Amino acid sequence: MKKPFLLLLMLTVAVGLSAQRPVSLTIRDTSGPAISRNIYGHFSEDLGRCIYDGFWTGDHIRMDVVAALKKIKVPVLRWPGGCYADQYHWRDAIGPRDQRKRTVNTSWGMVSEDNSFGTHEYLELCSLLGCQPYIAGNVGSGTPEEMESWLEYLNYGGKSTLADLRRQNGRDEPWHVSFWGVGNESWGCGGSMSPEYYSNEYNRYSEYCKNYPGSPLKLIASGPNSADYNWTEVLMKHISLNHTWGLSMHYYTIAGDWNHKGSATQFGEDKYFKAMAACLKMDEIVSKHAAIMDKYDPQKRVALVVDEWGIWTDVEPGTNPGFLYQQNSLRDALIAGTTLNIFNNHADRVKMAALAQTVNVLQALVLTDKDRMLLTPTYYIFDLYKVHQDAKSLVIKLASPDYEYDGQRIPAVNASASRDSSGAVHISLVNLDPSKTITIRAGMPGIAYTNVGGQILTSGRFNDVNSFDQPDKVKPAVFKGARKEGDELVVEMPPMSVVVLELN
Ligand code: AHR
Repeated sequence: MKKPFLLLLMLTVAVGLSAQRPVSLTIRDTSGPAISRNIYGHFSEDLGRCIYDGFWTGDHIRMDVVAALKKIKVPVLRWPGGCYADQYHWRDAIGPRDQRKRTVNTSWGMVSEDNSFGTHEYLELCSLLGCQPYIAGNVGSGTPEEMESWLEYLNYGGKSTLADLRRQNGRDEPWHVSFWGVGNESWGCGGSMSPEYYSNEYNRYSEYCKNYPGSPLKLIASGPNSADYNWTEVLMKHISLNHTWGLSMHYYTIAGDWNHKGSATQFGEDKYFKAMAACLKMDEIVSKHAAIMDKYDPQKRVALVVDEWGIWTDVEPGTNPGFLYQQNSLRDALIAGTTLNIFNNHADRVKMAALAQTVNVLQALVLTDKDRMLLTPTYYIFDLYKVHQDAKSLVIKLASPDYEYDGQRIPAVNASASRDSSGAVHISLVNLDPSKTITIRAGMPGIAYTNVGGQILTSGRFNDVNSFDQPDKVKPAVFKGARKEGDELVVEMPPMSVVVLELN
């Protein structure tokens, strides 16, 4: 082929790929509710290599992991489960480490545990991270007495046998733990209860969750499994809302089905599309639970707490199936960006969330291999999006073109925006289409700015990962594809990319 002809052909293809009708986006300077920093929370269960061999080496906390997580401003960390919360007995894991009880983690892999990481170590971890603790108490196999006494041990500053035991174990001052889960997945691994039965249990347990001086509790009821709207309806009707800060909800993105979830790295566009469609479902699920909550709590005093979310794939070949160790690709980063946009846009009701799970489990931020550590593509999304923490959400209107695959369609672009306390506007945009560059033209009535800066996270293939051999394959770069054109902000979004812009 002659060179000029080849050049013309290449140009035509390039124009063809981006010759989409531009996406119209309007961002108004009308402040919505504040985006709680706690939407950017994380979950660390005593599961697989999350705590043991992740955060904890056996006698100390890994400071490289802490430093990485401090950088993204982790606001809250949930522990000890998950399913494990309802088999966890806090007394097994306090006092001198060599005298702690040995127990079997029957929830995850039947491993024998020395309980060297317990209440004191977890709260030390939270203090190193500068984050709020969020403890899930045991309802499934515990008692109100066990929950009541744990709270006294944690939060009572006066003289009592339990507060003195805490002092004897090295902590004088109470920790003032505030976020408290009353069980976990009580419809499943937390006791297989009906919503009516759990509502009674919640009312009984919460009666004994006392506010010690200086430590008012924020109780979180064990809420629905994804689209189980009946669970929400029954709880909102029967639990004591005056004793309730939040209702949890769990929803995982699955690219296959529960028995065959699919590989974290070996997948084609069919599984890519399926994962994106499943991830976008979060918007509908949150909206429907929020609508039920609105009926019983129109003032939105009770938060929807999405304290387990993320993509769940098959484990990496050769690893313990009970350890839920999976790699993390660009696809997962796009899921994180999209989900956080959904939460930002529901900031009136979603006031806390926790990605599952921080280190070495499910959609992790950090993977470790002995003393090596890497940051996943998902980590970088939390780094880019931290600008939204505690900022005022801005009202956006977006008409997205579809991303079509095999006759099915989903919106290609999603977005959220906020204004921080310094006045800067932050816009996070995701293009899910794996082959099309999309031009966004945003009208910004009432928003004055002169500078547009930004960062982008993308890569050549949707299943690109960071590995111990190539830890920097997927990482953010400076973004040059946004400009002010008259009254419009014009953004050229490359295929499968997340862009976070700052306007000031
Ligand atoms: O995050 C893994 C598990 O998923 C949790 O233990 C449980 O709550 C959920 O089913």
